[in-house]
Amino acid sequence: MSAVADLDAVLAEAETAIAQAPNAQALAEVRAGFLGKKGSVAAVLRGIGALAPEERGPAGQAANQAKVQIEAWVDARKNGLAAAAESQSLADHHLDVTLPGAASRVGHLHPITQVERDMCAFFQGLGYSVEDGPEVESDWNNFGALNFPEDHPARDVQDTFFVKDSTNVLRTHTSPVQVRAMSQLEPPFRFIVPGRVYRYDLDPTHYPMFHQIEGFCVGENVSLGDLKGTLYAFARHLFGPQAELRFRAHFFPFTEPSAEMDVSWGEGWLEWGGCGMIHPRVLQNCGIDPDRWQGFAFGMALDRAAMIRSAIPNIQLLFDGDVRVLEQF
Ligand code: DAH
Repeated sequence: MSAVADLDAVLAEAETAIAQAPNAQALAEVRAGFLGKKGSVAAVLRGIGALAPEERGPAGQAANQAKVQIEAWVDARKNGLAAAAESQSLADHHLDVTLPGAASRVGHLHPITQVERDMCAFFQGLGYSVEDGPEVESDWNNFGALNFPEDHPARDVQDTFFVKDSTNVLRTHTSPVQVRAMSQLEPPFRFIVPGRVYRYDLDPTHYPMFHQIEGFCVGENVSLGDLKGTLYAFARHLFGPQAELRFRAHFFPFTEPSAEMDVSWGEGWLEWGGCGMIHPRVLQNCGIDPDRWQGFAFGMALDRAAMIRSAIPNIQLLFDGDVRVLEQF
């Protein structure tokens, strides 16, 4: 057999082996089997020296062509394998971009925050500003300036959380912000104070931390009638046009006369807060001339309004943070 015929046989063999190589590693082995130092082509080349001189040239040429041809088949197969591997990988990691995503849960405002914002919007519509003060408050602002006598029962440890040395307390009501605001505002003015307050009390309608909203209006001709009109408008805004108020004569050190106020929204009466005409001594304590200026004040439980509006039977449900409860509002 001639060297050229040998090469033809080698090429035929190579073509099949290359086409059948199942992966890149097998292909590299096949390539070495034909083109490596001990490969079939090299074996043919080694035999060339034994050929007649006129046969050597064509045989060498044919061997080189065979190398080029095998190299080309190997490259083509390599590309084919890579492309197949890539489409396999794409198929394996198929991503369906049309699948609906996992919906994230949307939160909402806490029922207390909802009511508080509603209350603020109502009073801002009447020209009230919204004032703020600290929850750790001086004994003077919380009690003294508001005309509480030294031995007033509200100062009793059963109601008040004292802070360390007893000159500061956790504010027991939003009324101390009256004192703070009066020192900054020039009469006439009117403002509300929504905020957290603290008392040592725990049952289905009381919690050691709760919320109040304070109202304060100072002018030259502010009357008890203005107070009642304002509170009626407020109650009807919150609870609907059927809401009724009931005023019971009461005592607060910082108002005179004073009343406690109950609200009915169609199902009995609930104590809601206190109110009255600002005591002249409170105005005086805060540098406002009581002979010229007078006004009214009120303070009520904000949490109760949220409980009424959302029919929540127990105040603790408002503060437990149980999403199953809160998401209903
Ligand atoms: N601060 C009172 C309380 O917490 C509520 C109150 C009553 C506020 C009468 C007032 C008021 O401004 O005039 O019990």
